[in-house]
Amino acid sequence: MDKQQTQDQINALKKVLNQYNYEYHVLDQPSVPDAEYDQRMQELLKLEEEHPDLVTADSPSQRVGGPPLDAFQKVQHNIPMLSLGNAFNETDLRDFARRASQGIDGEISFVCELKIDGLAISLTYENGEFIRGATRGDGVTGEDITSNLKTIHSIPLTIEETETIEVRGEAFMPEKSFHALNKAKAANEEEPFANPRNAAAGSLRQLDPKIAAKRNLDMFSYGVGEWNAAEITSHSERLNKLKALGFKVNPEWRKCATIDEVIEFVDYWTNERPNLNYEIDGIVVKVDSLDQQDELGFTARSPRWAIAYKFPAEEAITKLTNIELSIGRTGVVTPTAVLDAVKIAGSTVQRASLHNEDLIREQDIRIGDTVVIKKAGDIIPKVVRVVENKRTGDEKEFFMPKNCPACGSELVRLEEEVALRCINPNCTAQLKEGLIHFVSRNAMNIDGIGEKVIIQLFQEELIHTMADLYRLDREELLKLDRMGEKSVANLLQAIEQSKQNSLEKLIFGLGIRFIGAKAAKTVAVHFETMEKLQQATYEALVEIDEIGEKMADSMVKYFSEQKVIDLLKELSELGVNMTYTGPKQSEGETDSIFTGKTVVLTGKMESFTRNEAKALIESLGGSVTGSVSKNTDILVAGEDAGSKYDKATELGITIWDEQQLKDMTED
Ligand code: IVH
Repeated sequence: MDKQQTQDQINALKKVLNQYNYEYHVLDQPSVPDAEYDQRMQELLKLEEEHPDLVTADSPSQRVGGPPLDAFQKVQHNIPMLSLGNAFNETDLRDFARRASQGIDGEISFVCELKIDGLAISLTYENGEFIRGATRGDGVTGEDITSNLKTIHSIPLTIEETETIEVRGEAFMPEKSFHALNKAKAANEEEPFANPRNAAAGSLRQLDPKIAAKRNLDMFSYGVGEWNAAEITSHSERLNKLKALGFKVNPEWRKCATIDEVIEFVDYWTNERPNLNYEIDGIVVKVDSLDQQDELGFTARSPRWAIAYKFPAEEAITKLTNIELSIGRTGVVTPTAVLDAVKIAGSTVQRASLHNEDLIREQDIRIGDTVVIKKAGDIIPKVVRVVENKRTGDEKEFFMPKNCPACGSELVRLEEEVALRCINPNCTAQLKEGLIHFVSRNAMNIDGIGEKVIIQLFQEELIHTMADLYRLDREELLKLDRMGEKSVANLLQAIEQSKQNSLEKLIFGLGIRFIGAKAAKTVAVHFETMEKLQQATYEALVEIDEIGEKMADSMVKYFSEQKVIDLLKELSELGVNMTYTGPKQSEGETDSIFTGKTVVLTGKMESFTRNEAKALIESLGGSVTGSVSKNTDILVAGEDAGSKYDKATELGITIWDEQQLKDMTED
C-alpha cells in the first residue's frame, strides 16, 4: 500500500469512526454493535502506529488520552465567561421578566434550559477542527484542558463550519459513571467524590488525560462565545444550529411565550429532576431574541437577559441529638439519627437513617455532632458527613447494644450480614411490625388499620398476635382515641371481609422471610390449601419453578415452629380462609400480578433505577408505558411523583409506592 492509499484508508476509518461515535454518544442511537466500532478502531490504531506522521489531532484515536502534561497552559477568554444572577422563587422569576420587558421594546419570549451541575467549558474550533478546550477559570483566564476534553466522546473533534467558533457548555459526569467511579474508589480504599460535579471537575483537572478518558464524562452545549453567524437571530435557532453541527444539546429545552410558562417548566422539572440520569441544580431562563439580548446587555457580573433559578438546597446542616433503634419485622435492629428539625428541599427533616453500626463507625458519627444531611429525592434522608470542626469534645460515641431494646434478648449478627438481629420470635417490636405488614394492602388488606391503629392496639394490649385482630370487639375499640361508632363499624367490617381473602394474601401477610407476594401466589396456586403447604417438604418446594433453596428452607423452618402451627389453627378457627380461591392454573403456566397489566412509573425510587423497574415488570409479563391514561392499570409512584400521580388519582387508577412494588416482586 503506498502512502496515499494509507492516507485514504486512515481518512475513511476516521470518518466512519466519527460517525459511529456521534450516533452513540450524541444521538444515543448506535447503528452498529460495539464490536464493530472496536474493530475499526483497532485498524486505525494499527495504521497510525505504523505511520505516526499520519496521526492528526482530530483522529478518534486521540480520545483514549494523549501523553501526560506537566502543567495546564493559561487561556484568555476574549469574551469573558460570565456567571448568571440567581432566582430562588416565583417572585424572583417574575421580577426578572418584568425588568427584562421594561428594558426593551416589543414582546419577549424566553428559552428555558436545564441548569446542568457540572463545570463550564469553552471549545474553540478553527477551520472545522477542535483546537482548544478551556475551563472557565475566573471568567477571564481559564486553563487549557484540550487533551482531557478530547476524551469526551460527545465533543466533536471536527465540525462542518470553517469560521472560527467558540462553543460553550457544561461538562458533567452522568450518575452511572459517578457511581461506578465511587465504587471503584471504595474498593481501593480511596476517598470517594462527594458529588458528580466534584468528580467531573477532579477528572478534568488531571494532568494525565488517560485518567479523564476512563471517567466517562459527557457534555451539553448551551451557547457560544466568539461567533458571527448573521443568519441566526435567536437563542433557540442557535441551539438548533449547534445540534446540526454535531454538538450534544440537552433536548429538554423549551421556548416559553410567558413567564407563567417558565414557571410551569420550573415546577415540572422540580418534580422530574430525580428521574434524570445526570444532576441539575436549577433552570436557566434566557431571553430568546438575540437583538433583545443585545439591548438588555450586561451588568458587571452577569447578563441581564438570563437568570438561573436554583432549586432549594438538598443538603442542610443540623445537630444530631440522639441515636434511636428501631426493630423491623424480621428483627433487624436499625439505628436512626434524631436531629434538630431542619428544612431540606421544602420538607422538614427530623430523622435520618444510619443503616448499621459499621456505617456509624466509618463516618465516626457521634451523638451531639453537627452533621450534613442530604435528601436527594431519596425517601429517607441520610447523614452525609460530620462537620468535625464543630466538635466541642462533649460528643458521645455510640455503640449498638448487646440486647434487643424491646424484649431484652441477645442480638446476633447473622453470617454475611452487617445488620444485628433480634431472633426472639416473641419480641414485641417485631410482632408490632409484623402486624403492620399483615394488615397492609398487598397482604390482608384491612382498610382502616394502619401503623397508627396497630400501635394503639398494641399499647392498649388489645392485640399481641395476628389472631387477636379477629377477636377485637366493638366495645374495646370504642374506648380507643379517635375511634367513633362509624370508624369502628368500618374497621370491623374490613376485618371480617379479610377472612375471605384467597390464600396467597394470608401467606404473604405472615411475613415469612424471603417470601414476597409473588412466591406467596406461586405456592398458593400450587398447594391450594394451607394444610398442604404446611406439610410440604423442602424437596417438594424447591421442585416448584420460581421457588429457590433459600425460600424453601425458610418456609420449612417457619411452618415447623409450634407457635406458627398454633397461630394457623387459631386463624382457621376464627374463620380465616385457608384455601386458594383465585383462578385455576394449568401445569407449567405461571401467572404474575403483572400479567397483561399496563404499568406507568414515575418519581424517584431508592432500590431501582427506572430501567431496572421496567425490566422487572416486563419480565413478569407486564408492559410499561410512559404516560397515564384510562388504560393504565397501575401507577408506581416513587418520591416526588408529579403530574402523572395527579392524573392517576383523577382517573382512579391503582397507585403503588416503591415498597409495594418491592413486595410484589421481592422474589
Ligand atoms: S448559560 C453568561 N445555560 O451555570 C452565562 N449556563 O452561572 C451563560 N450552566 O457556570 C451561562 N447549565 O456553567 C447556561 N443551560 C445552561 C447551563 C448553564 C449550567 C452553568 C454555567 C455557569 C452557571 C451560571
